[in-house]
Parts: sequence; C-alpha cells; structure tokens
Amino acid sequence: MTIKNITVLGSGIMGHGIAQVSAMAGYKVFLRDIEQVFLDKAMEKIKWSLQKLTEKNKITSENAVTIYNNITPVIDLKKATENTDLIIEAVPEDFKLKEKVYGELNEIVKNEVIFASNTSTLPITELSKLTNHPENFIGVHFFNPPQLMKLVEVIPGKDTDKQVVDELTRFVHSIDKNPVICKKDVSGFIVNRIFIPLVHEALHSMDRDKVSMDVIDSAVKFKLNFPMGIFELADYTGLDVIYKASYEMSLRDKHVLLMHPRIKELYEGNQLGQKTGKGFYEYKKENYERVNLTEEKAAQYEPLSIVGVAANNAAWLVENEVCTLEDLNLALSLGMGLKTGIFDLVRKLSPSRVLENLKSLGEQQEFYHPNKYIENFK
Ligand code: 3HC
Repeated sequence: MTIKNITVLGSGIMGHGIAQVSAMAGYKVFLRDIEQVFLDKAMEKIKWSLQKLTEKNKITSENAVTIYNNITPVIDLKKATENTDLIIEAVPEDFKLKEKVYGELNEIVKNEVIFASNTSTLPITELSKLTNHPENFIGVHFFNPPQLMKLVEVIPGKDTDKQVVDELTRFVHSIDKNPVICKKDVSGFIVNRIFIPLVHEALHSMDRDKVSMDVIDSAVKFKLNFPMGIFELADYTGLDVIYKASYEMSLRDKHVLLMHPRIKELYEGNQLGQKTGKGFYEYKKENYERVNLTEEKAAQYEPLSIVGVAANNAAWLVENEVCTLEDLNLALSLGMGLKTGIFDLVRKLSPSRVLENLKSLGEQQEFYHPNKYIENFK
C-alpha cells in the first residue's frame, strides 16, 4: 500500500508537530481533536512554527501556506478517518482513554489502515490487542519538538506484520526523520528509558547534594553537553507527560526508575511546565523559552549520579538487545540532542568515580547497583 492520507489523533504538543512534519512532506493530513479550542490552539502553534522555519529560510512563505492548507483540523472522527491510510494516535498517555479511542476506530475504519501509536511508554503489544488488526499496529514514537528532532523510534509489537514495519520505516524516511527500530517492546523503549529516570535522579541528587535546580541543569548543559538541563527539559516536555510516563514505566518495570514524589505533586498542582507558565521553573510565554544556565553555576556540581543512572539503563538496553550501542547513541543524539555518547560521558567524568558513586548509593538503594557492564568498564 502507499500512504497518501494521514490522520493524527490528538492535537497537543506532539500531535500538532506530527501533523506539521507530515504536511511538510506533502501528505494530506486530518488533525483531529475533541474540541475546537484545542484545534485552534494547535493550528496557531503550527502557524508560529512555520513562521519560524520561514524566518530561518528552511521553507519559503509560499511553502508555508501550502503546508498549512494541507492540514485540515476536524472534530468528527468519521470524517477524519474516511480516506485515511495511516492513523497516528497521539492522545494523552492514558490506557483507558486509548482503549476508548481504539474502540471507536474499530467501528469505522477500513481493515487495511495502519494504526501507529505515538505512545511514549505504553506497551505496543497490549495496545495492539485493543484493535481489530494487531498485525497492522505499530509504535511510532516522535520527540519534542517533532519539527526539530530527527529521531522516530519504530516499535513493532509481537504481532506486527513485517510489511507494516517496512511501510512505517519508509514513511519515517519520507518525512525526513531517522527511524531507529526498538527491537523489544520494553518499558520506555530506548530514549525514555534514559530520559525519564534522569528527571527523578536530578531531584534525588538535589535533595542529597543540597544544590539548586539551575546548578544541576547548568552542569548537565555545560559539563555533559546536553542541549537543555534536565529540569528545563522536563518543563519543556510537560510534567503531565513525565508523570504519566513515570507511572506507566514503573508499573511494568520496578527497576527502571526511582520515583521522586515531587513529580506527582507538580502534576497534581497543575504545574506542568512551560505550557502552564510554571513547573520546576517559571515562564512568561508559551511557545518556546529557555532557562538561564551558566558555566559558573556548572562549576558547583559534579553530575556523577546523573551519568551513573543513565549508563546503568543504557547498559541494560544493550545487554537485553533492545538496540545496539550504536543505535542507542544515534537515538540519544537525534532524540535528545546529546553530543557525546553515553559511555563517553562516563569516560569524561572518570569510570572509577562513576562506579564508586553508584556503589555507594547502592548501599542505601538497590536501584543504584551498578550493572556488570559498568563494573567492568574501563
Ligand atoms: N518549530 C520551529 N522552530 C522552533 C520550534 C518549533 N516547534 N521550537 C523551537 N523553535 C525555534 C526557537 O524559537 C529558536 O528560534 P530563535 O533562534 O529564533 O530563537 C530555535 O528554534 C532554537 O534555538 P535555540 O538556540 O534555543 O536552541 P537549540 O540549538 O538548543 O535547539 C532544541 C533547540 C532542538 C529544542 C534543543 O535544545 C534540543 O535538542 N533540546 C532537547 C530536546 C529533547 O530532548 N527532546 C526530547 C524530549 S523526550 C520526548 O519528547 C519523548 C516523550 O515521549 C517524553
């Protein structure tokens, strides 16, 4: 089959971006949400983003108009899906909600349509069973902001047809993104298995080491060369996304992260980060804003446990053949903008210090026990 028409379900941060990058590749896109106000906001964000890309000469202003017109915002699910070849579901990360959406789709969608979920953490095989055709179901995980991040994780479920994997991989290339196949349907897939636990670890380190958020973030940015600090990135991603991802990941795998209660508090207090004007930090505008991080602040903190926790989860992914080390580093570079491979960060800080730190933390909490790969790391 050839994909021409795409339906994106959910017009939030990820949904509107996925619709935009698909339209930029020439696809006709129906962007569906349940209320007009959500769609209006999404189309405003698309307009803002296209304007930014025009200013930077990435597209012409004529292109911007064509792209914008390639996206039809719609509430009616039947209309959104009647001629579709590919449905990308990007509704909030709640299993019950997804169950409801797939239930509705089962009633109205043709048999051969591919269902792709942009879930950040829910198991693809479990989701596929909510549909009439698990063989046509696949995970397709974009990164925020989809307009700028080049990575898409492609996650086949247990029953996904090989042709669907190939078709989806072609689609990802066609929208000018790099697919990385996540070979096992594990909690957090590849990048979130590294990123989400780091948000919790940054909080634990703040308590333990008595340093401020901006000091930790500055060290992450200037010593580890991350494009954003961890708290800054969590605010940018949204504390609702971080909380739900943390919950789902730890529900299925007790060892993947060490939950910190602050995430739930922020979520329940509707302090969701940039989108609500307050999360870990405070923000003045909604579209895109950076935190002031400095080299002076970075000098006050050694991010040993941040690197240790990331390296432990990275070792787990490689050891369990979820991906190769090469794919892991590619995914982290294209999905989180990391300039240095994860084990090169261990080398940069000193393998013995990272190991000693994990061992000493591991005396209190089993979570930190170093993976045997780290134990033997030179
Ligand atoms: N469309 C178009 N332009 C955009 C944009 C968008 N959606 N968002 C931001 N921009 C613009 C900004 O306005 C800014 O423009 P300006 O130069 O006119 O001010 C420009 O892009 C970015 O400039 P900066 O100097 O601030 O940015 P960087 O060089 O640091 O690049 C970045 C920005 C690509 C976002 C980079 O900081 C980065 O890679 N951050 C990490 C993002 C990341 O890790 N994402 C993954 C999170 S995990 C996830 O999404 C998975 C989920 O399941 C949880």
